[in-house]
Amino acid sequence: MIEYKPLTPWYVNQVCELERACFAHPWTLRDITDQLNSPFGLYYIAVEDGRVLGYVGSFMGADVVYINNVAVFAAVRRRGIATGLIEALKAGAREREATGLTLEVRSRNLPAIALYEKTGFQRAGFRKNYYTDPSDDAIIMNYELVY
Ligand code: COA
Repeated sequence: MIEYKPLTPWYVNQVCELERACFAHPWTLRDITDQLNSPFGLYYIAVEDGRVLGYVGSFMGADVVYINNVAVFAAVRRRGIATGLIEALKAGAREREATGLTLEVRSRNLPAIALYEKTGFQRAGFRKNYYTDPSDDAIIMNYELVY
């Protein structure tokens, strides 16, 4: 059974492994540990049999939760794991009484855009040439928490 829970130090190495598997510029052990130790960091993992399958990383700034990264190992994609992570993050954001969640996504990352649309995010803006390596525009997407 897949469990969705806050990231703890025990799993940080596995999250680094996932970062390396998914991104050209992966977050380092130091980056993730710093976020974990920050009172503003909000990180959730999907775990099955002690193995991390996916994670979502975010931080709380003012009353908004900014999503940095969502990643799921390629072998277990399209099983609803990222959706479960986003829902766990929404619940965590609600506990912290955030007004909403926001993120930037590469305009060419169609799987991620589809994931965010499916989980209720709405397109709120656009930043031309925001990304490099490879160059891409950013789409800003927001999700409003209703209480
Ligand atoms: N193509 C089209 N739609 C896709 C898709 C794909 N490859 N992957 C996900 N979706 C959409 C679908 O609507 C899907 O629902 P469905 O399976 O019922 O059709 C919905 O998103 C939810 O998918 P889910 O199974 O929860 O997502 P996932 O666990 O496969 O993870 C990503 C999605 C984007 C996190 C994963 O592909 C990934 O890790 N990509 C590499 C890292 C990345 O780009 N992260 C996002 C930017 S930080």
